[in-house]
Amino acid sequence: MPPPSTSAKVVNVTCIGAGYVGGPTCSIIALKGGDRVRVHVVDINQQRIDAWNSDILPIYEPGLDEIVKKQRGVNLFFSTDVAGAIEEADVIFVSVNTPTKTYGIGKGCAADLKYLESAARKIAEVATSDKIVVEKSTVPVKSCEALNRILRANSDGQKFTVLSNPEFLAEGTAIKDLMNPDRVLIGGPQTPRGLSAIKTLSSLYEFWVPIDRILTTNTWSSELSKLAANAFLAQRISSINAISSICEATGADVQEVARAIGQDSRIGPKFLGASVGFGGSCFQKDILNMVYLSKSLGLNEVGEYWEQVIKMNDYQELRFSARIVKELFNTVSGKSIAILGFAFKKDTGDTRESASIYVCKHLLDEGAQLNIYDPKVSREQIIRDLTHPSISADPSRVERQVRIVDSSYEALKDTHAFAVCTEWDEFKALDYEKVFQSMLKPAFAFDGRLILDHASLQRVGFQVHAVGKKFVNSFDDDTNSPSPQKASRGGF
Ligand code: UDX
Ligand code: ADP
Repeated sequence: MPPPSTSAKVVNVTCIGAGYVGGPTCSIIALKGGDRVRVHVVDINQQRIDAWNSDILPIYEPGLDEIVKKQRGVNLFFSTDVAGAIEEADVIFVSVNTPTKTYGIGKGCAADLKYLESAARKIAEVATSDKIVVEKSTVPVKSCEALNRILRANSDGQKFTVLSNPEFLAEGTAIKDLMNPDRVLIGGPQTPRGLSAIKTLSSLYEFWVPIDRILTTNTWSSELSKLAANAFLAQRISSINAISSICEATGADVQEVARAIGQDSRIGPKFLGASVGFGGSCFQKDILNMVYLSKSLGLNEVGEYWEQVIKMNDYQELRFSARIVKELFNTVSGKSIAILGFAFKKDTGDTRESASIYVCKHLLDEGAQLNIYDPKVSREQIIRDLTHPSISADPSRVERQVRIVDSSYEALKDTHAFAVCTEWDEFKALDYEKVFQSMLKPAFAFDGRLILDHASLQRVGFQVHAVGKKFVNSFDDDTNSPSPQKASRGGF
């Protein structure tokens, strides 16, 4: 338990939910607020809290360890004492998980708000004084209203002011994003109490964020802005991925196209990286939320418009796997393929909605043997993802068809092909001469992240395929006889 605060000026911040959003956000508030804030992060998951209190934090995020180690026990505390933390708080951040519903009405589309509701009920049950309750998790529009109604219906006279303060941090760059945000968005009721709560919350960010980057809006604008921002970002990736399929068919190069269109200042260069598909806990979930919201408002065409962004992403993952099968002479059954990267992007151990999961699923369905390596994802997590009922009706096939290994070289040895599914820097630095020697021939390289030096790989002898590119490989050219290297090992 944290010690009681000693100064009247100290703002007591409690965060319910010690996950990817709550943990890093609160660590930065503690760091930047110094002796003017006391931050208590609570979770119902004892294991997660134990990890936050240990040397090995439950999430990997560059720069986070140092900050947590510096502030922990000073003005940053982690515990499972949810009730105590609510009671002592002036401001309560709610950062619980809001996954897509897997049952009932809105299954596969609407957000499951049961964790949010349970946190709200706990706040109402325990609080004996007025509180500012801040919705930080990504939620459907009007969730703050639901939160407000639960709190009010269960209040004993205390006043709760509910604000929306969506988090825009991206995993892998969370600390950088939090330290130097493009903007902080705070939405709340435009009433005297609401405006005063907005001011209090804003003052926490003003410890380090310039005031002109703190935007205030009404509650619904704030909630919708978060969904819209993620939908726009995902839409850009689906757009460039749609272009990548045309490139592969025509010989245009998606990186050249991205550079050419990105130089238009109205379009801009960011988020135009063609890939095997976007993943992460937010993009798909938020678009599905948007689809559900639109359709429930009777805006079917709007819902269908956004739905297409996800369909395009599914298509990209499937197209990548299908290309592997096609290039490996239309069958991967019994063939060994190295999967480099399982996280949904580099610099995180998070696998939620990772494209890698779906590429593996498609290849497993085709009978491939997979050697999977990721520098930050645990063996248990990979098994959990691949044996999930939505991925496999037969969990035992993971035992038969999957090896999870501890290095790229181990993954690549004696394989027919490898596929880069996450853009980890270490994959760029491998000794591909050595890799080539260790693989069966012809050796195939599939770059789903456009991080490799394709010309060098071809020089080494690889048959190279990459998203949004059409290469002429030596193998495609009948006039090229196999090199002695290629002839030295029998592939199939
Ligand atoms: C996203 C938003 O960026 C962030 O603002 C929000 O708060 C949470 O959702 P995150 O999911 O952590 O963040 O990562 P992001 O960097 O946006 O990447 C999402 C996915 O898109 C990853 O799989 C990434 O590899 C992919 N991506 C990103 C591309 O395929 N191409 C790109 O050009 C950019
Ligand atoms: P996000 O990526 O949005 O941060 P996570 O799943 O990483 O989501 O973290 C959410 C955390 O919220 C989990 O650790 C979960 O145990 C916690 N949580 C969910 N419901 C409650 C609750 N009612 N009280 C406290 N913690 C909760």
